[in-house]
Amino acid sequence: MSKVQIIPAILATTEEEYQQKIQQIESSGLFTDGWVQIDLMDGKFVQNVSISPEVVKKHSTSFKYEIHLMVEDPLFWASQFREFPRAQRFIVPIELPNKEIDEFIGQVRVLTDAEIGFSFEPATPLSKLKKYQNVAESILIMGVHSGFSGQDFIPGTLKKIQETAKLVKENELDCLVGVDGGVNHENARMVIDAGADYLVIGSHLLEGDIDENLGKIWEALNG
Ligand code: DX5
Repeated sequence: MSKVQIIPAILATTEEEYQQKIQQIESSGLFTDGWVQIDLMDGKFVQNVSISPEVVKKHSTSFKYEIHLMVEDPLFWASQFREFPRAQRFIVPIELPNKEIDEFIGQVRVLTDAEIGFSFEPATPLSKLKKYQNVAESILIMGVHSGFSGQDFIPGTLKKIQETAKLVKENELDCLVGVDGGVNHENARMVIDAGADYLVIGSHLLEGDIDENLGKIWEALNG
């Protein structure tokens, strides 16, 4: 089984909060996989507004960035990372109109060499991926309704993860399965056993001592 990745999620609504969270992750030194997920929100696709791409670029680090675009115009937001090679994966909501998604794929492939992934809200069926299943380099299954950190994991998500892992395997897709939202040391093992390749974790890593929190999650996964 390929190695499980734990990717810290930064959901920040102010530059100060963003700085504090990125410094917390850097201070850990334990995220050897080198990825962080940055949540960007436009207040339209989700009822929350995040820091801007400018703030992300201003406080650059040595991490690889998975940019989670919870926005109605993903191309506008992604194009602001054109000169920022650390943005190595963009996640767009599969719920967006095909026109927006097609335009995004076409342009991102020209502007960057970043991977493209699709996020699925809890209510969105996996069948929505059909048109893009050979484009997807990551499928991010949301364990919560996007927009806010600290929510409880929706139990029905486990079945969707199993379904996604089965689809990837049966179609021999070169695609990672990620799970994002409500993941903690109590459910992490179930999420991985359901077929996830990587876990995106916010509050249960960043609230309190990050190394202690990470240790609890690895203990749950390896126990
Ligand atoms: C939710 C975000 C998630 C969230 C994860 O809209 O996409 O990345 O920040 O935070 P927790 O792990 O606290 O649910």
